[in-house]
Amino acid sequence: MPISFFFSLPFLVFYRHPCFIALQLMEKEVIAAIGPQSSGIAHVISHVMNELQVPLLSFATDPTLSSLQYSYFLRTVPNDHFQMYAIADVVDYFGWKEVIAIFVDDDNGRNGISVLGDALAKKRAKLTYKAAFSPGASSSEIDDLLVSVNLMEARVFVVHVNPDTGLSIFSKAKNLGMMVGGYVWITTDWLPSFLDSSDSVNPETMDLIQGVVALRHHTADSDQKKKFASRWKNLKNVEASSFNSYALYAYDTIWLLARALDLYFKDGGKVTFSDDHRLRDTNGSALHLSSMQVFDQGQKLFQTLIGMNFTGLSGQIQFDSEKNLGHPAYDVLNIGGTGSRTVGYWSNYSGLSVVTPEILYSKPPNTSTSTQHLYNVIWPGEMVTQPRGWVFPHNGKPLRIAVPYRVTFKEFVHKDKGPSGVKGYCIDVFEAAIDLLPYAVPHVYILYGDGKRNPSFKNLVNDVVANDTFCILEI
Ligand SMILES: *[C@@H]1O[C@H](CO)[C@@H](O)[C@H](O)[C@H]1NC(C)=O
Ligand SMILES: *[C@@H]1O[C@H](CO)[C@@H](O)[C@H](O)[C@H]1NC(C)=O
Ligand SMILES: *[C@@H]1O[C@H](CO)[C@@H](O)[C@H](O)[C@H]1NC(C)=O
Ligand SMILES: *[C@@H]1O[C@H](CO)[C@@H](O)[C@H](O)[C@H]1NC(C)=O
Ligand SMILES: *[C@@H]1O[C@H](CO)[C@@H](O)[C@H](O)[C@H]1NC(C)=O
Repeated sequence: MPISFFFSLPFLVFYRHPCFIALQLMEKEVIAAIGPQSSGIAHVISHVMNELQVPLLSFATDPTLSSLQYSYFLRTVPNDHFQMYAIADVVDYFGWKEVIAIFVDDDNGRNGISVLGDALAKKRAKLTYKAAFSPGASSSEIDDLLVSVNLMEARVFVVHVNPDTGLSIFSKAKNLGMMVGGYVWITTDWLPSFLDSSDSVNPETMDLIQGVVALRHHTADSDQKKKFASRWKNLKNVEASSFNSYALYAYDTIWLLARALDLYFKDGGKVTFSDDHRLRDTNGSALHLSSMQVFDQGQKLFQTLIGMNFTGLSGQIQFDSEKNLGHPAYDVLNIGGTGSRTVGYWSNYSGLSVVTPEILYSKPPNTSTSTQHLYNVIWPGEMVTQPRGWVFPHNGKPLRIAVPYRVTFKEFVHKDKGPSGVKGYCIDVFEAAIDLLPYAVPHVYILYGDGKRNPSFKNLVNDVVANDTFCILEI
């Protein structure tokens, strides 16, 4: 009665597809499977598991993979649905209205970003552009994509990718001057997952991501977790002494299955299989579909699994009525210097807070705006002031400024032979103010009136409205 593990390793894709390996394993009599992390593979395998009635405990976070569609699918990490709502809350907290998503055009990327769009809409913000690149995008494609988003108005970028491509985006962005003051970069948990599982990240890499805000699964700092970390450090033959949140969920998943099986057998559960006549061998295929068997009591084991309730390394392992892991929560991190700082937490229970979710769970839920709080963030370019989140688009029309061309008070504004066409005290103050902004504001001055008599303000205001001119410069 084997329990199969097929953690999908990205490099396997190129040699032998993990789906294939997984399906070959299913030729043995299997009663439960753990994995994979890749959403695309999870989609394929879920179909087969459904057919064979074998519970699949998966680390795939793609929100569209649901236990409602696949009745043997059980996600043992938080659903990305919550991560997207957490990002929308962060965007809303800082008062931004327009967001550009940069993501890999695969199941996980598309489905996550689609939920982000809904989550932002609920906060009266919007996803103004979905910048997708293909899974194997070349470096010039990523470059072109970034150049095109840089021409847009929004300066809030949400990066939902895989660790392998993610860092190359930041290295391109840095080259394009997009990691400076005025830009906002928010990443999903792929970035902390990468950082946490590396024993040391080189300074060049850290330099690329200064000022980034990133989400990470929140797992309580329990004694259990600390003991595990110290035991792990003492293990020999491990690749890295550090680990990320997925390692904790993987550990808990194995215990979940072990405990559930224990209960299942104590409760008189049996292991019997029967043939599935719908599965036939295809000539020439190395897969022996006809030897795959249906686990007769699959549903009973599945029900045992979703009824479990115990404290694991990642927190309470318990499933809600939609078969999601309960109490989804995230750390909100701000990358800076050689590491990151926790500027707050998000929980589905109380939204953003600087108090850990565990403390909040003991109080009544409160998502009122006045209770939402994060510590100060240091943004790209070491800016402490919060970026405004948008700029006048580089390819857009310049701001048109009507300047009264008068005969009196010439020292304030008057016609000039210089390139701007105007000069005076008001112009100097305005230019100085514009220079203080962390972004460029292309603008032109338009003289209003003939310079022989003072123009009427009433007409000027009417014309400003009629001519789509933005601003009147006068005292
Ligand atoms: C497989 O090959 C055998 C012999 O070549 C043939 O008789 C049989 O019909 C084939 N089966 C299928 C499903 O193609
Ligand atoms: C799950 O376990 C926790 C801690 O042991 C307990 O407080 C809670 O009531 C349990 N929940 C259910 C639904 O049994
Ligand atoms: C998340 O919050 C919503 C709204 O408060 C609630 O309906 C839902 O049950 C919560 N989900 C989880 C997994 O806690
Ligand atoms: C939520 O917090 C705010 C501010 O602290 C408070 O005024 C309000 O009464 C709280 N609401 C609930 C339901 O506890
Ligand atoms: C502004 O609009 C008025 C009337 O709508 C028009 O006469 C005038 O030429 C316009 N000026 C500019 C600078 O476009």
